[in-house]
Amino acid sequence: MKVLAIETSCDETAAAIVEDGRKVLSNVIASQIDLHAKTGGVVPEVAAREHVLKVIPVLDECLTLAGCDWDGIDAVAVTRGPGLVSSLIIGTETANTISYVKNKVLVPVQHIVGHIYSNWLEAEEKIEFPVLILTVSGGHNELVLMRGHNEFEILGETRDDAAGEAFDKVARILGLGYPGGPIISKVALDGDKGAFALPRSYLEKGSLDFSFSGLKTAVLNEVKSYIQKNDIKSESEMDDKFRDDLAASFQEAVVEVLGKKLLMAADKYPEIKEIHLAGGVSANTRLREYIADNIPNGIKFRHPKTIPFCTDNAAMIAAAAYFLFQKNPERYKEKTNVVPTTSFEIAS
Ligand code: KG4
Ligand code: ZN
Repeated sequence: MKVLAIETSCDETAAAIVEDGRKVLSNVIASQIDLHAKTGGVVPEVAAREHVLKVIPVLDECLTLAGCDWDGIDAVAVTRGPGLVSSLIIGTETANTISYVKNKVLVPVQHIVGHIYSNWLEAEEKIEFPVLILTVSGGHNELVLMRGHNEFEILGETRDDAAGEAFDKVARILGLGYPGGPIISKVALDGDKGAFALPRSYLEKGSLDFSFSGLKTAVLNEVKSYIQKNDIKSESEMDDKFRDDLAASFQEAVVEVLGKKLLMAADKYPEIKEIHLAGGVSANTRLREYIADNIPNGIKFRHPKTIPFCTDNAAMIAAAAYFLFQKNPERYKEKTNVVPTTSFEIAS
């Protein structure tokens, strides 16, 4: 079964064709990073206008690269949310129109569920349930227990900033640009992760929720006192060693909290067979290394096969749609228009 998916929840216009939930025939991503780097973050109106310009060319390219025409497509999938509503609308309206005109099954997919399914893309062996998933992005941060397809239990989530959001904000504080994750992890390679004793918030005993806003404030305070002490005018005059050490210490604090909570959950649910990382922050090499070093014996560890499968993409939406459809095809027989939603509700 070939599913064509569209994803426009934030600042990537993406379309992909995936066969049987695993085989990626094409995965096209038009990134708006350069556009939003100018403002140090995403301006929703600017993102939406760019999606309007890109969605049709991206779809065309996606069909061409897969060597498909519309007759070869069995279903259309689209991200229904959460995300920026003005961006989501471009994707959902495009999918609604295709489904109507081409008479295709339409499968709405929740964005976080999409990230969860990124580990199925190009997976060689069968994935064994139950799976414990840490999905960490710019807009969300969840620990999820998955006992089967479309069976999700949220064990923990962020109470304030998501980990990726903290990376983006700290990068801005350090004058490193947008998006923060890749740049921080790069400069952190030259820094000393033990240089600054930054706080780790574990919340109440046993809690599997996350909080990163205190850590972000601690970084801001370090920078403020450095600026004052050294009598400099802006972060661009910051010494490289100070910046790299602070970036490395910050990254280590995030990795340790994410890692420890994930391992705490693994301890609590010893029946799990696999641990997965997903979302933009799963591209982080230090996070992957921490989990690989500390995972209990006998549990399989996976992260998405390629970096473009970590960050927002449409292939993961197509994979999710395939498994949702297989589980309950009846549900998608009657056509309805997909309406964007900002809800984090994961059940579909
Ligand atoms: O999943 P994603 O593309 O979008 C959302 O659904 O939010 O995640 C984007 C986030 C950004 O905050 C970015 O800074 C972060 O993922 N990110 C990283 C890395 N690459 C991207 N964070 C840490 N290390 C990385 N290598
Ligand atoms: Zn995402």
